[in-house]
Amino acid sequence: MKHPIHLETREQTGARLFSPTAGRNKDPIGKVLDEHIPQNAKVLEIASGSGEHGHHFCGLRPDVIWQPSDPDTVSRASQDDWAIERPGQILTSLSVNTMDENWWKDLTEFENIYCANMVHIAPWEAACGLAEGAKHLLNETGFVFLYGPFMEGDDTAQSNLDFDENLKARNPRWGVRKLSAVKHIFSEQGFNLTTRIVMPKENRLLIFKNS
Ligand SMILES: C[S@@+](CC[C@H](N)C(=O)[O-])C[C@H]1O[C@@H](n2cnc3c(N)ncnc32)[C@H](O)[C@@H]1O
Repeated sequence: MKHPIHLETREQTGARLFSPTAGRNKDPIGKVLDEHIPQNAKVLEIASGSGEHGHHFCGLRPDVIWQPSDPDTVSRASQDDWAIERPGQILTSLSVNTMDENWWKDLTEFENIYCANMVHIAPWEAACGLAEGAKHLLNETGFVFLYGPFMEGDDTAQSNLDFDENLKARNPRWGVRKLSAVKHIFSEQGFNLTTRIVMPKENRLLIFKNS
């Protein structure tokens, strides 16, 4: 990818990337996912970045099969490097860009989709494509787990308002998304927001259920 795709300096050893943010949030995210992801689920992760979230979660939940993905080749190489420690459980990373038309067409058999920190660091169309793909990929018991900061009207934290300005200055197509708008694009594809969990640093973990 030509444009920046993340906001931090990541350490690198061989192909393996270490994201300071993922290092901090993988524990609280893992705890919530552990409570909600069904036994033996096959999870598609969109925008896996360094690959640390999948690696951490699969350590907690050996029953789960994890499919990482990212449009960025350097990130995919890192995801594959982390996957070496979870043989057979974390699959080879796929090139998936939710802004591509019919990006889901060669993918099957996922019960859940997990996506962290993408929708504000990508054009709005990436979120719309994610919701549309979820409709095609998930059956009636499927969940989408969406993690990140959101605009929540008068309840929006000042840190997220500042972050939104910062993102837009970097790229006018980026920005902290309105929770109401995210709910709307998912409901258009048949998903209800069933759970909104307050996470550290004014992030949220949203759970959408196919209805
Ligand atoms: C800030 S990183 C987040 C990585 C990881 N999920 C995390 O929370 O540590 C954003 C990621 O989104 C990916 N991305 C950006 N646009 C995308 C799109 N349209 N479809 C899928 N992934 C995308 C980037 O390549 C990058 O790896």
